[in-house]
Amino acid sequence: MIIRRFTEADAQAVSDLIVTTLRVSNTKDYPAETLEALARSETPEHILERAGWTHFYVAEEDGRILGCGAIGPYWGSTEESSLFTVFVHPECQGRGIGARIVRTLEQDEFALCAKRIEIPASITGLPFYRKMGYDFKNGRAEMDEERLYRLEKFRTPLSVRQVADPGEKRRIAREILEALPDWFAVEESREGYIRASGEQPFFAAEQDGRAVGFLCLKETGAATVELAVMGVRKSCHRQGIGKALFADAKRFAVAAGYEFMQVKTVRMGCYEDYDRTNRFYQSLGFRELEVFPTLWDAENPCQVYVMQLNSPLDVLLRRRSYRGKFKPDPVPREDLTAILEAGLAAPSGCNKQTASLIAVDDPETLAALRVVIDPPVAETAPALICVLTRRINAYRDRCFAIQDYAAAIENMLLAVTALGYQSCWYEGHITDTDRICDRMARILGVPEDYELVCMLPVGIAVSEPAMPKKKPFAERAWFNGFQKE
Ligand SMILES: Cc1cc2nc3c(=O)[nH]c(=O)nc-3n(C[C@H](O)[C@H](O)[C@H](O)COP(=O)(O)O)c2cc1C
Repeated sequence: MIIRRFTEADAQAVSDLIVTTLRVSNTKDYPAETLEALARSETPEHILERAGWTHFYVAEEDGRILGCGAIGPYWGSTEESSLFTVFVHPECQGRGIGARIVRTLEQDEFALCAKRIEIPASITGLPFYRKMGYDFKNGRAEMDEERLYRLEKFRTPLSVRQVADPGEKRRIAREILEALPDWFAVEESREGYIRASGEQPFFAAEQDGRAVGFLCLKETGAATVELAVMGVRKSCHRQGIGKALFADAKRFAVAAGYEFMQVKTVRMGCYEDYDRTNRFYQSLGFRELEVFPTLWDAENPCQVYVMQLNSPLDVLLRRRSYRGKFKPDPVPREDLTAILEAGLAAPSGCNKQTASLIAVDDPETLAALRVVIDPPVAETAPALICVLTRRINAYRDRCFAIQDYAAAIENMLLAVTALGYQSCWYEGHITDTDRICDRMARILGVPEDYELVCMLPVGIAVSEPAMPKKKPFAERAWFNGFQKE
């Protein structure tokens, strides 16, 4: 049996499963007319609608759907989530499928970033959820008007921090590695890892006030850093802790200017535990570099994985709109030039090259621009790139000026990210009815036949950019036809 994400093709089977379960399992607790009304509402369309704003999972065996469950935000909250639609086919209850579904939901990103998870539990499901650690909301063991119990579970969100103190690093490394004898049984090498960790960039994952995992990096060349060692308590595996540690370590490695990260492990196919480690590294994006059969010893052939840190895909997935403060450090001219060149390298309709660019790094001009950028944004940016367009036709009456400057802007945003800076596409703000853009254009001496349409601040960020909510893949992208696969 596997638990996997719901797809559109599952809607009918999930609807049938829910209707059957309501009619068989819930009859002892609810009147028939209540259940029939519910069954009528659980149509495939209703399931698809719910799957649109939740992360919906199904349990499948031999092509048959045996169970389902979903998790989503609790009334739009980013800090609370709610479980929905947890059902297991009456013939398959008692096999632990419900528990596996709930555990999967509790490891979903909606759960991992939530401080509280709520469940509207039926009378039938109540004992199961109580066993899964859910308590009555606000301590009230009463049903609501829908004859459902409101249950909840609190969780402390996982936090990852970089540890500076060598003693603290060694203490955490010891605590975790000594709890992982399946991977770190050899005392000599374990002690070696612990000793070395004190001097290495060190990231600790903490939950409920205790360390649950750590990761150390080690420089192995001017351009390369090695994921020297990482460990996550076994009871905390499969909760996204390794991924969270790796995300912070990778951010650090990129900011420190490394181009590659390598990691070594025992080659796939030797031991089950190490096979899991291989699959984990592969899932992070590591690629096989080489196997050294006797680097460690003949029983433990060493697989080296490598990852390019600033690959184009990596950069474009990392780009975010940054609206926080910038450090005062100036942006070197060679970096600004590289960003402008990236903009000019963009495609343009009929190669008309209708977009032009002005980088501003002179403090006086920046100050003059700041006076007209009101309400203020990007006030602390040490450089601004202004994007100009000429609305000339590419051919006949076809004007691609908007497409041209949009492509130039995206290229520059990617170059900004690759070089370790942050930016934001400010177009709406300056082209609104108050036409801030026209006042900026006058300060920069832009001729009448050009229009200033966008500004991009450039600088080193003080804080992390916010992660915007993006709609799920399946809502916006398909294979072989509209909303098909
Ligand atoms: C045409 C266009 C105009 C935009 N104008 C503004 C703006 O005036 N102010 C702003 O804060 N962000 C602006 N943005 C940035 C979007 O708000 C941002 O891309 C979106 O929220 C998604 O976040 P992300 O860029 O981090 O993926 C603009 C983006 C585009 C494509």
